[in-house]
Amino acid sequence: MKAHFTKTLLEVRDLEVSFKGIKTITALSGISFSIGESETLALVGETGCGKSVVAHAIVRLLPPESRVKGIVELVGKSLLELSEKEIAKIRGKEIGIVFQNPSLALNPVYSIGHQLAEPLRVHRKEKKKEAISKAATVLKNMGFVNVAEWISYYPSWCSGGMNQRFLIAASTMLDPILLIADEPGKGLDRKCITELEIELKKLKGEKKTAMLLISHDLGFVQRLADRVAVMYAGEVVELAESSIFFERPLHPYSKGLLNSLPENGFVPIPGFSPPLSDPPSGCKFHPRCSLRKKSCTERHPELKEIDERSVRCFLYP
Ligand SMILES: Nc1ncnc2c1ncn2[C@@H]1O[C@H](COP(=O)(O)OP(=O)(O)OP(=O)(O)O)[C@@H](O)[C@H]1O
Ligand code: SF4
Ligand SMILES: [Mg+2]
Repeated sequence: MKAHFTKTLLEVRDLEVSFKGIKTITALSGISFSIGESETLALVGETGCGKSVVAHAIVRLLPPESRVKGIVELVGKSLLELSEKEIAKIRGKEIGIVFQNPSLALNPVYSIGHQLAEPLRVHRKEKKKEAISKAATVLKNMGFVNVAEWISYYPSWCSGGMNQRFLIAASTMLDPILLIADEPGKGLDRKCITELEIELKKLKGEKKTAMLLISHDLGFVQRLADRVAVMYAGEVVELAESSIFFERPLHPYSKGLLNSLPENGFVPIPGFSPPLSDPPSGCKFHPRCSLRKKSCTERHPELKEIDERSVRCFLYP
């Protein structure tokens, strides 16, 4: 696919992740995409399709029973080949991470100020006082008033929405070149989601931070993403520029996702995602696809490029 952004920041090629257990589960196969400098790529798809596994695989935070193959490069540096120490340096510095459930991600025994200052102290060896004063400035710039109070608060004293904003502040303290945000709006009310959206837009617009954004909220995705990758059962089935995608999705599953939105009539996709331990033959979406032909049940479609977008479906040769 033709790059819309000048320079590639993150390149993921043929990523495959499996989990060893009584039965081996292939959670991801043949995942390929790139993110350009200051670009936001959204990953969407039903629960269990592998979005979080992609995010965790990039920053090497998968559990020990996982097996990861393929290539993950951040500005040419092969992340899968780095030592534990080297990848730990990249997490939080070059790659900011915001995973769902901020109340769990923040440490309950430390104050907000302490946690915001932590990245500066660990990665830049700054003195505590200096780091906390910088943290206060960041909160001020985010529009917080009474900053001195906020930095002395503990996470349990704050709402989920506030904690999510603190977590974003902590993850971007060191001006990462890429922010991975996995369901940052999950569990937040409308008002908090709006605030979160403003925060992410600011990062995108002012700091030019590139983002891998994972969200179930397609409205949120539409407002923030430059490109959208749709995942189904551990594969990317469509990848397109956001405006083009929302106007004219190509893959039958993408069409189904958009039709299931309230504004499009709430038409659900029939059936369920297949178990990853026993996926269907041929096209993994075939049991739910109204357009399937016999060949769809026998052959597995490749992700093919058409008109500057990619789609995995035999309807598009
Ligand atoms: N530690 C693990 N052991 C075995 N299988 C796992 C493990 N972690 C994830 N999986 C499998 O990988 C699949 C993808 O999980 P993942 O959490 O990435 O889904 P998701 O797309 O993020 O879903 P959601 O939208 O609900 O967050 C799951 O269906 C699960 O079967
Ligand atoms: S390949 Fe066949 S079954 Fe799969 S989405 Fe396309 S038409 Fe449907
Ligand atoms: Mg997830």
